[in-house]
Amino acid sequence: MEKLKPYHTFGLDVSADGISFLEKTEDCISFLRHRNPKLLLGCGSDVLFTENFSGQIGIMRTAGVDICEDQECYHVRASAGEIWHKLVASLTYQGIAGLENLALIPGTCGAAPVQNIGAYGREFSDFCEYVEAVDASGSVVRFAPAECAFGYRFSRFKGEWRDRLVITAIGLRLPKRWKPVLDYGPLRSLQTVSDLKPVDLLEHIVEIRRARIPDPAVLGNAGSFFQNPVVDEPCCQRLREEFPDVPAFSLGNGSFKVPAGWLIDRAGLKGFRYHNAGVYDKQALILVNYGGAEPADLMELARHVAGCVYDRFGVRLHPEVRIFGKTGEISLD
Ligand code: EPU
Repeated sequence: MEKLKPYHTFGLDVSADGISFLEKTEDCISFLRHRNPKLLLGCGSDVLFTENFSGQIGIMRTAGVDICEDQECYHVRASAGEIWHKLVASLTYQGIAGLENLALIPGTCGAAPVQNIGAYGREFSDFCEYVEAVDASGSVVRFAPAECAFGYRFSRFKGEWRDRLVITAIGLRLPKRWKPVLDYGPLRSLQTVSDLKPVDLLEHIVEIRRARIPDPAVLGNAGSFFQNPVVDEPCCQRLREEFPDVPAFSLGNGSFKVPAGWLIDRAGLKGFRYHNAGVYDKQALILVNYGGAEPADLMELARHVAGCVYDRFGVRLHPEVRIFGKTGEISLD
């Protein structure tokens, strides 16, 4: 058994049968040929293990970034094991702009397309030129964005292609003409800043995130634990009548996204603690390990949170974090 504590950001004391480090494409192919269960991790920043994993864990470690340009755009190719935030910061400081809103999202570049990472009005798919992956036969396939079926924290890599492919590289297209996206609440104050530079936006985002999202090196967590639920119009109407300040956002198709953080907060759970796990007191959407939490503490806490939100608002929460039991992915219920 090998300890998984250093390889996932909840910092739980769990193990796996084996761990392989994937440093080149051949390692990815050998990993795919391992019998199931197996699980590929980047930084392990979006997983919760509920017990020891009876299978092989692959840790993506491939490295390399290439940049080329044409008249209109920079084209960036990053190996799957590159750290996402390092890439975002390094590009921004080199004068290659566009990714600032996605700064400080934990994880690797290869993990970015899997759940189509997003923050502050931008998501990975806005910049994706291609995603490259290998299959167990060793064939390298390059997918165009449309083939990946990107959605809100979703892609085919998380759906039907799971376990069949390993993402080896991503391609990003960053237009040279920079157009900052500043519509999201905490960014609006920048709309009036004259001569705003990409680096200013990057630093602003880093500051906001540092204030609201705990550093996993200090307090174990996996970012937002739940997805923001999407509700239909009658449900949104009912919420608005009872809670006129509910921050619901229209998706333009008759449905509305309601911030799970707001629901959890208004259910009175911000700062709630269960054994050594708790609801983070600065952002209710994040569940934390205060040190020494058992996987069961986090599962119980998550169920309690989802249950209270359902009882109070009639809205079901679904985890954003992927939950893994002994032999594979499981649901919270
Ligand atoms: N809110 C509260 N109380 C809280 C937290 C939030 O009332 O404790 C309210 C806020 O006041 C705001 C609304 O809920 O009106 C939304 O909150 P916030 O701006 O913090 O964003 P979020 O919806 O909670 C999402 C993403 C984050 C991303 C931020 C910024 C999901 C599941 N989460 O959070 O992504 O950083 O927006 O774009 O979509 C992640 O995926 O791990 C992640 C951190």
